[in-house]
Amino acid sequence: MSWLRPHRRRAGTSTTEQGWSAEDVQTLEKAVGRAPSVHNTQPWELTTSDRTAVLRERSAVALWQHDPEGRDRRLSCGAAVTNLFLAVRALGWAARLRRGPEEGTDDPELVATVTATQRQHPSVAEGQRYRAITRRSSYRRPFHEQPLSHVAREALLAAGGAADVHARWITGFDEASSVAEMLGYAARVHRKDRYYQRELAMWLVDGQGGVDPGGGIASEDLGTEGVAAVGLTRSQHRLPDEQRLAEWIANESIMVLATATDDPASHLRAGEAMQFTWLTATSLGLAASVITQPLHLTEVRAGLRERLGLPGFPHVLLRFGYPVPVPGQRRA
Ligand SMILES: Cc1cc2nc3c(=O)[nH]c(=O)nc-3n(C[C@H](O)[C@H](O)[C@H](O)COP(=O)(O)O)c2cc1C
Repeated sequence: MSWLRPHRRRAGTSTTEQGWSAEDVQTLEKAVGRAPSVHNTQPWELTTSDRTAVLRERSAVALWQHDPEGRDRRLSCGAAVTNLFLAVRALGWAARLRRGPEEGTDDPELVATVTATQRQHPSVAEGQRYRAITRRSSYRRPFHEQPLSHVAREALLAAGGAADVHARWITGFDEASSVAEMLGYAARVHRKDRYYQRELAMWLVDGQGGVDPGGGIASEDLGTEGVAAVGLTRSQHRLPDEQRLAEWIANESIMVLATATDDPASHLRAGEAMQFTWLTATSLGLAASVITQPLHLTEVRAGLRERLGLPGFPHVLLRFGYPVPVPGQRRA
């Protein structure tokens, strides 16, 4: 669907008093539903009324082994906020974003309220990011050997470093070796944790038909090679040699996102920035995947912070690169 179509059709006739049309609501729901989420749990709920869209966290969606503190759930909700905001813009509205509940009210699950205020065309960049929503997906295979251009790296760094979020690349072999050591350690811990593995298995969908609309990850989509092999580790995964892993990390473009504080609001902001950067990458024809599994170990989070000299708490690693063309398929 063209992102301009709904706007063009109603330009000049729709006012904020009229409320969303059924087609608008579908556009918003589709955009939110395409946000990435931990284990594809989609831990949010969208409600719409008048010209307002409200996103709530479903904290009942709990991953006790993988995500006992709900950090990834909130990162996922943050990603959904980015998609929701872009969808309102793509419908041709200026959008006001309020994060968290209204002052004086107590609604801890209320993540964000996006209100359409007046007619306004989206910018070219917003249109590009909106169109990237349906093309974005997790690419857990090794990338093409062609490195990212300086311009692409700068664009991604600018996208990741939104207000309140610190973005930086892992650079040089020393940093790559430190990160490889920590990811290797975390993979070994998770691989032999029976309870962790049992929970992960419950979210894996086997078979050829892709992922169940109710959530979960198709087993065949998990990474078994390169950096992604230590990004979501199963007990049967063979772990790469640490020296080889360091080389892969050094050759990929891997960004870390961190925030000054480590509270729920920061997790949501990091999730927004993660998705904004991912969509920027998709719109540039890049592939990406994110890794949080190792960061659930306190010692790995602390180690990353110390060895990379981060000015805050790391939340997610994003890997970017050019996809390896599949024979018979055109590159995005
Ligand atoms: C907060 C968050 C954490 C994630 N952590 C990991 C991870 O550690 N390893 C991994 O391979 N994928 C991870 N993912 C990717 C999800 O598994 C993926 O987004 C989801 O299965 C939907 O698939 P899609 O991205 O292809 O749409 C994470 C995604 C989010 C939003």
